[in-house]
Amino acid sequence: LNNGLAQTPQMGWNSWNFFACNINETVIKETADALISTGLADLGYVYLNIDDCWSNITRNSEGQLVPDPKSFPSGIKSLADYVHAKGLKLGIYSDAGAFTCEVRPGSLFHETDDAESFASWGVDYLKYDNCFNLGIKPEKRYPPMRDALNATGRTIFYSLCEWGEDDPALWAGRVGNSWRTTGDINDSWASMTTIADLNDKWAAYAGPGGWNDPDMLEVGNGGMTYQEYRAHFSIWALMKAPLLVGCDVRNMTAETYEILTNREIIAVNQDSLGVQGRKVNVTGTDGCLQVWAGPLSGHRLVVAIWNRCSKGAIITALWETLGLQSGTSVAIRDLWQHIYVTGSAVSSFSARVDAHDCLVYTFTPQTLSQSAI
Ligand code: GLA
Repeated sequence: LNNGLAQTPQMGWNSWNFFACNINETVIKETADALISTGLADLGYVYLNIDDCWSNITRNSEGQLVPDPKSFPSGIKSLADYVHAKGLKLGIYSDAGAFTCEVRPGSLFHETDDAESFASWGVDYLKYDNCFNLGIKPEKRYPPMRDALNATGRTIFYSLCEWGEDDPALWAGRVGNSWRTTGDINDSWASMTTIADLNDKWAAYAGPGGWNDPDMLEVGNGGMTYQEYRAHFSIWALMKAPLLVGCDVRNMTAETYEILTNREIIAVNQDSLGVQGRKVNVTGTDGCLQVWAGPLSGHRLVVAIWNRCSKGAIITALWETLGLQSGTSVAIRDLWQHIYVTGSAVSSFSARVDAHDCLVYTFTPQTLSQSAI
């Protein structure tokens, strides 16, 4: 969407994956404090997004949305002021249907009123869900909120959550700043890998202004191993996915913190070229030994070798699968170890990868005659 936002994928935090409906203004304020004190905000995680269940069960007598008086007694405006004073941005949630998924009022046919409420509260981001949609196509239901947000005069990030219905990559670039390509993620290896593959299909449609959204991060929620979470974060970064943290940032383990604060992986996601990396080669049983790669600014590449098999294995990236000429000499930096592993590899690169782990590298060709991927 051409509203000036999303020149790189959005980064921040969202309440749903960890808290679901157990949210209140104290949790949101403490999360704002934690985003600052942990340094996550300085790394770019600036959107603090409230998901479903913030709203009262009914609209007020003027037909406006109102926050739940028990969990958000001070109102959304006061929360936005709190968040803005810390240099963060506030996101909120509604639904392009009659109700939200947790049966709060939806915004379908109330787009103008609700956009005006959000803008008057100082909201910076809207996630717009797909429940109770009356069987109307998303191509019809999502543009009215784009227009209503635009008409407020406040610049508001517009995140479509239509679960991949009607292949949004084909139409949502003119509607939103990101669009979901799949159903909901859950905190498991099976869900994460399935979603990565589904999102890969739409790589060609992502770019500055509009990104494929394979759903929020589960890193730190306990259902995957360290290696699996590292793979999740690596591949989401390479796919130019939104990096929306979904754990309790007030209580992160050292491993969770290490993953979410890896500056070199974040830099891959936020690279100015804005091209979504893809799965470029598979070998092994059922294709479980994988190479994912994509171009970065400065004629560099990001290359991930991902072992989705159940045992450790050596994975090889061949220059020909990366669009490099085999004689090209490449300097290779490991973005998890934070070291250059070689200054002059030619024709292929191999490394041992533990089961379910993912190693990520930048490749810097030392001669620039060949074209990148
Ligand atoms: C849907 C969305 C989720 C979350 C929930 C909230 O399932 O896809 O991301 O917002 O609704 O109810």
